[in-house]
Amino acid sequence: MIPSVLPTYNRAPLSFVKGEGSWLIEADGRRFLDLGAGIAVNALGHAHPDLVKALTDQAQKVWHVSNLYHIPQQQKLADQLVEHTFADTVFFTNSGTEACELAVKMARKYWYEKGQPEKTDIITFEGSFHGRSSAGIAAAGSEKMVKGFGPLLPGFVHLPWNDKAALEAAITPTVGAILIEPVQGEGGIRPLPDADLKALRALCDEKGLLLILDEVQCGMGRTGKLFAHEWAGITPDIMMVAKGIGGGFPLGAVLATEEAAFGMTAGTHGSTYGGNPLGCAVGSAVMDHVANPDFLGSVRARSGHLRQALEGLVAAHPTIFEEVRGSGLMLGLKCKASNLDVVKAGYDAQVITVPAGDNVVRLLPPLNITEDDIAEAIARLDAAATKLEG
Ligand SMILES: Cc1ncc(COP(=O)(O)O)c(C=O)c1O
Repeated sequence: MIPSVLPTYNRAPLSFVKGEGSWLIEADGRRFLDLGAGIAVNALGHAHPDLVKALTDQAQKVWHVSNLYHIPQQQKLADQLVEHTFADTVFFTNSGTEACELAVKMARKYWYEKGQPEKTDIITFEGSFHGRSSAGIAAAGSEKMVKGFGPLLPGFVHLPWNDKAALEAAITPTVGAILIEPVQGEGGIRPLPDADLKALRALCDEKGLLLILDEVQCGMGRTGKLFAHEWAGITPDIMMVAKGIGGGFPLGAVLATEEAAFGMTAGTHGSTYGGNPLGCAVGSAVMDHVANPDFLGSVRARSGHLRQALEGLVAAHPTIFEEVRGSGLMLGLKCKASNLDVVKAGYDAQVITVPAGDNVVRLLPPLNITEDDIAEAIARLDAAATKLEG
């Protein structure tokens, strides 16, 4: 008999009933160190007092008003994002997938309004992940995601990861945009080198294409800058954001330049819940922390310590791990053992990590994880690896 919850997830036998900082407490009372943060969502850990206050204060006032009216919390968060980024304008969604939908629509509408409606194609890359909607799976194009769900949304050109010759060859008159994650998350923590992201920007400028960055996983302080593209010193035309921006409350956004957004006039897009007062109140509180240069400095410092300790872990367990990769607090342990076995051994040692493609185990802890918790995490990962060796 089919379970009452549609069985689309392979769930671990764990039920968490409470969260405190970087810790999750299981129904049986066991405490787990959370290096997954809900897959890069709980940017400030669990039950951060400022986020609890922002949500409960807003909940006392008004939960939902339609986008038929002005929403001051939405305006405030949009202003914060515009102040701290390349963007001139923001549309709020409830998830990364919805951000992908709008990014694709915005790019196509841009070219339509510019009188070049044939430029509907968007170049994407192998190993990418942009969500599970029809546009999201068509954009990523992996067999695992698209099989059985055809006919797929047309207009995506799939290229190998970071293959310059293939990229140059793929730019035909019907291509209007390039969509890429600066650091692939689901694909296995694969950062695009800064020089290559710079080159991609230059190529878009030369060929007159829109550059769309998917920073759903790597954005919001995850790499130690507010957004990952800042490391390369470039800016996109359109950017997808979600996960960390809500700190655990469902929230996403599309950020864009005035030029890229020029086709998106009244009536061209909408969302019932997108930009609701609760989500935006929490998002503003997240931004108050994450956009602070001192906070971002502390992410970089913690990243340095965690990374160094992980290098030691890899050296100590050469049959389990191969290398550490990634950026900031978006780190991956490329495994020699099965990454699923490593994650499972982690559960036994009460440390939570997340599997990714390319046999990688992801470490995406809260951005404010303490140094003590980093030391404890390494001890638990060491215990997990030792058990696997046995
Ligand atoms: C890079 C990237 N884009 C898009 C998405 C989809 O976001 P959501 O699951 O919030 O719809 C994800 C989710 O993992 C992601 O990592």
